[in-house]
Formats: sequence, C-alpha cells, structure tokens
Amino acid sequence: MGRTSDKFNLFRITQALTKKLFVKTYGCQMNVYDSDRMADALAPLGYQIADGPEGADMVILNTCHIREKASEKVFSELGRLRMIKEKARDQQGRIVKIAVAGCVAQAEGDEIIRRAPWVDIVVGPQTYHRLPELVARVDPSTRSRIVDTEFPEEVKFDYLPVEHLPRGPAAFLSVQEGCDKFCAFCVVPYTRGAEFSRPVFTVVAEARRLVAAGTRELTLLGQNVNAYHGEGPDGKTWNLARLLAKLADIKGLERLRYTTSHPLDMEDDLINAHRDLPQLMPYLHLPIQSGSNRVLSAMNRHHEVDAYLGIVDRLRSVRPDIAMSGDFIVGFPGESDQDFADTLALVDKVGYASAYSFKFSPRPGTPAAGDDRQVPEDVKADRLEALQQLLNAQQYAFNKATEGQRMDVLVERTGGREGQMAGRSPYMQAVNFQGSEDQIGEIFSCLITQAKQKSVSGELGDLKGAA
Ligand code: SAH
Ligand code: SF4
Ligand code: F3S
Repeated sequence: MGRTSDKFNLFRITQALTKKLFVKTYGCQMNVYDSDRMADALAPLGYQIADGPEGADMVILNTCHIREKASEKVFSELGRLRMIKEKARDQQGRIVKIAVAGCVAQAEGDEIIRRAPWVDIVVGPQTYHRLPELVARVDPSTRSRIVDTEFPEEVKFDYLPVEHLPRGPAAFLSVQEGCDKFCAFCVVPYTRGAEFSRPVFTVVAEARRLVAAGTRELTLLGQNVNAYHGEGPDGKTWNLARLLAKLADIKGLERLRYTTSHPLDMEDDLINAHRDLPQLMPYLHLPIQSGSNRVLSAMNRHHEVDAYLGIVDRLRSVRPDIAMSGDFIVGFPGESDQDFADTLALVDKVGYASAYSFKFSPRPGTPAAGDDRQVPEDVKADRLEALQQLLNAQQYAFNKATEGQRMDVLVERTGGREGQMAGRSPYMQAVNFQGSEDQIGEIFSCLITQAKQKSVSGELGDLKGAA
C-alpha cells in the first residue's frame, strides 16, 4: 500500500514538474542540432518535447537570417504565437513563455522585442546554454524581457548537459561553428561569430554517446566544417580528415558525412579520406555559388572556377562514384547574362546529384546589399527558373541511373503511406520501400526499382548489420 501511494505521489510530482516545450526550427542543419541542444539544456528543468505550440509552456523559435524570406517568416509565426499566449492566459490562467533563438535573434536583438513585445527571451546561437537561467529570470508579473546576444568568453558546449533524448539513426554533430570568410552576400560571420572548432575529445565523446544510444550515421556540421582545426588529444591541432579517421574507429558507427565545406579548405588529406575511409559516404555538398570568375571575385570567395573543378576531378579520381551537391546564388549584384551562362556551363560540367539555388537576397550589413548594381527581380526569377530546370534534370538523371542498382539503405523512419518506410542511400537519396518499424536503425541492401525527382523507390533485401 505504502509503495503504491509513494509511486502515485511520485507520479503526481513528476506531472506537476513536467512542462511542455515546443521548438520550431528554421534554417540550416546547425539550427536543427542547436534545437536539440536547447531541449537538452531545458530538460533538467522538467521540460519535455511537445509536437506543437498549443498546450506548450514554452515555445522557442530557432530562427534563420540567411535570406529575407527566412527572416520574415519569424514575425508571422510570432503573430500566431501571440494569439496562443493570450488565449492560454485569458482562458486557462496559464503562462506561455516565448523565446526567439538563432540567427535572427543574434542579428535583430532588441528589435524583436520592439516588434513583438510578447516575446520573453531573445537568445543568440552562442548563449543558449544559459537558457535555464534566462527562463528562470523571466517574470511575467513585471513583464521583464531578456535579450542575450553576447558572443561570450565561455564555450557553450562546455556548459550544455549531455543529450537527453536519443537522436535517431542518422544524427547531426556540430564540430565547428562560425565563419571567418566574409563572403560579400552572407550574414553568417555576423550571426554566428568567428570560427571555432571543438576539441577532438569532446566530439569523440559525444559521438560515442550518440552511437551507444542507437545512432548509426553521423553528419559532422560546421558553417565551414572543413576548416575544422580542433585541439587533438596530443595537444596538436587536428584537421577534419584526422577527426573523421578517429571517428571511423567507433564501433557501430557505420556512416560518416560532413557539411558544409568551402572549396578553399578542401585539403588533399580530406579528399583522400574519401578513398581511405569506408564509412565516409560518397556524397559531398561543396557550394561554389557561381560559375563566373568575375562574380566569384565580387563575392569574395577567393578562388576561381578551375580550382573548384580541380577539386571535383580529384574527388572523382579517388572515389569515382562520389555524388556532388552544391549551392548557387543567381542575380548577385553585377551578374551579367554571360556570368549566368557561365554558371549554367559549370553545372553542366560538374553534373550534380542535388543542389540548392537561390535568388540573391540583399542582407542588412553585408557589402553586397549596398552594391548599386542590383539585378532586377524579374531577371533573378528567370535565371533561377533556368538554373533549377537544369539542376532538376540532373537530379532526375542521377536518380534514374541508380535504377536497377543494389545499394545500402539506412532505415530512418516510417514513410508517408501505410507500410512504407524511408531511409537514405549512400548518395543521400531519399529511398522509400515497404518495410516495418523494427527495421529502423538498420542497414539493408536495397534494389532501387524506380526513380522520381526527389526520391527513389526500392525493395529491401538482406540485412547488412544489426544495431
Ligand atoms: N557556409 C556555407 C553556406 C551557408 S549559407 C558555405 O559557405 O557554403 C547557405 C547558402 O545560402 C549559401 O551557400 C548560399 O548559396 C545561400 N545564401 C547565403 N546568403 C545568401 C543571400 N544573401 N542571398 C541568397 N542566398 C544566400
Ligand atoms: Fe557565409 Fe561564405 Fe562563410 Fe559560407 S563561407 S558561411 S557563404 S560567409
Ligand atoms: Fe540560417 Fe544561421 Fe544557419 S542564418 S543558414 S540558421 S547559420
């Protein structure tokens, strides 16, 4: 009897302490990683993850500032959150705390509170380890607001608690942050700050924990991940190739990837890692942005088209099946028809398995925003359409060429339809197939039966390795 009521009391206490946290993530993979880490930071306070903002006690928008559209989405979402907050207060006497994190928080700071005074906390990408303290300081009675967008002395990774929930079969791991490259169009050096690499041992420790919790594939993240130069256990500086080799020794870690790389930091030993490490997947996201040397120079990219093509050739000579991916900007100030034609020619030469392309978006505080040679919106739109047509055709051709092949697929989640499961091929293709949930986290050989634009269908064969 005593034990039952103890249990019941414990249950009641846990219920009272449990709060619901909803995190909405915009932008790049680093934000996806950060969102999970914010949830880790708040878990000791009793916050558990909710699937939507309704009923949540705290909502965090982890935001992206890279293009105007991304940035403006935040304010429309904040409008919806205001209604949720007011309804909870008026109808249930319940307080909903709202935080804006990420790159818009860093860039706009106080301005967010001015535009949306119902926001309680504004916290930047380098200070979110302080969230527990910031949340405790929010006092709804005084309507105090907290803005913490410092670039602090301390390193957030040293303060964050370990992972609270397993990350799944394919997980992200940030190893490098910030950027010193200052491309003329880009806000990242301002929103994320200077380049910083985590020491090797903290990366390896986190990787081991993730693998012990069921992760089979790790994608190492950084705004310039191949500029990684972390302190090694020998006190020397290790580069990304060396870090990858070390991680490849972890038993149970079947696949490694890294993103995003800059062509300037694509060193020979990293290229050779694609030959030497079987865990390193034959897929590389290597943005060039433009196929015109004139535009590359104006963008402050510090390399020419030939250097990029040289890297692609070297990668293909060590790993002939490597699939390439990239990012492109059309309509950079001063981009002529010929410059754009050069971009199409480059895409033709490389042959991408997938790629992202964007219209240039002038961002406040970046040199390119003040350039008086802005390209008209309709020209940008036409160029984007032409480029996307070409890139889509290449993606479809890539997928089509895999029809009839057998390849390893890591099963990651349930698919859209009944009995359907989804995973990824070594080349990052999304693969759909008939399967069951108990296959999640395992790698199967899979026959690719049908190519689509953004995915392929397949039939599962033999299990490659049990989790
Ligand atoms: N660190 C990565 C890119 C991060 S931003 C790199 O150097 O490749 C992701 C992509 O967004 C960029 O590659 C670029 O293609 C695009 N991008 C960045 N700023 C932009 C802007 N002002 N307008 C349009 N696209 C932009
Ligand atoms: Fe931005 Fe250039 Fe740095 Fe990439 S390398 S994050 S595009 S400034
Ligand atoms: Fe966006 Fe910041 Fe990532 S601006 S792309 S969330 S680094």
